[in-house]
Amino acid sequence: MRVDAPTRLDEAMTTIAEAIDRQFEQLLTSPDDLRTRLYAAMRHAAIGGGKRMRPLIVKASCDLFNVGFESALRTGLAVECIHVYSLIHDDLPAMDDDDLRRGKPTVHRAYDEATAILAGDCLHDLAFSVLVDERTHPDPFARCELIRALAQASGPMGMAGGQMMDLTAQTTPFDLPTVTRMQQLKTGALIAFSVEAGAILARVPEDRRVGLRGYARDVGLAFQIADDLLDVEGDAHVTGKAVGKDAAAGKATFVSLIGRDQAREQAELLVAQAKAHLHSFGSEADLLRDIADFTIRRTH
Ligand code: IPE
Ligand code: IPE
Ligand code: MG
Ligand code: MG
Ligand code: MG
Repeated sequence: MRVDAPTRLDEAMTTIAEAIDRQFEQLLTSPDDLRTRLYAAMRHAAIGGGKRMRPLIVKASCDLFNVGFESALRTGLAVECIHVYSLIHDDLPAMDDDDLRRGKPTVHRAYDEATAILAGDCLHDLAFSVLVDERTHPDPFARCELIRALAQASGPMGMAGGQMMDLTAQTTPFDLPTVTRMQQLKTGALIAFSVEAGAILARVPEDRRVGLRGYARDVGLAFQIADDLLDVEGDAHVTGKAVGKDAAAGKATFVSLIGRDQAREQAELLVAQAKAHLHSFGSEADLLRDIADFTIRRTH
């Protein structure tokens, strides 16, 4: 039976979101002691929200190489841990100073700043505890490669480095290549990890990952352009986070540099290019194709 693209994507998104919630429920069972508040803050941020795009991308890349569901889910969970930690810290007063995230008060609003910092720290650590476990992959070489890749995507050469550039974007003039570099690091690196995860878990050699890397680069950039467009055009009731923040902070983004129409055009071009990189794959790459389309169609 032929499954149409929106149905296929919706079903996969629901399956992944439910599975990720169940995993977090299990892993974040609170001890009955003085750490309860820390666990409550982690649960507040991690459970019941978000599109779970990165775990979904991991699942889609695992589909290419017949990687089993448990490996895909645990690897997706790890990258989601890093993502949620990055959001908690991104919302802090020292960074974007936001009150709303995923339709709920941000962690430092619901709890306090110190608890939010610690909850972020612990989710960061949880990511690597999940990856190192044999249930993620029986082969320690594969687990080491996952850990190395996720560490690189999270640190100064990835998300955190991009966040540093983002902070300076408020005070330093940024040109298009610099904004592109910033987006590649702050958003692109974790997305690129998610795309490559299937190849790592299947132990696919480097030379067979070229197309996937091209897809990752284009989708990652399109995803952040869409985020910047939503900041301008979106509705906080739908996005679940404040809008209009980038312009208010005087931040250079694709939209501020080239305008809304050209930014949208650029994102559409990137999505077409991303799908072209998957030409050597058949229907096993359909979910990755659907995800590429969704990155710019999304309203939240
Ligand atoms: C928001 O990411 C922050 C960026 C890196 C652009 P998402 O749009 O994936 O946020 P959630 O996980 O769905 O809340
Ligand atoms: C944040 O980018 C990217 C992260 C690494 C968390 P933004 O600051 O634009 O994300 P939102 O708009 O608050 O979700
Ligand atoms: Mg930010
Ligand atoms: Mg922000
Ligand atoms: Mg944003």
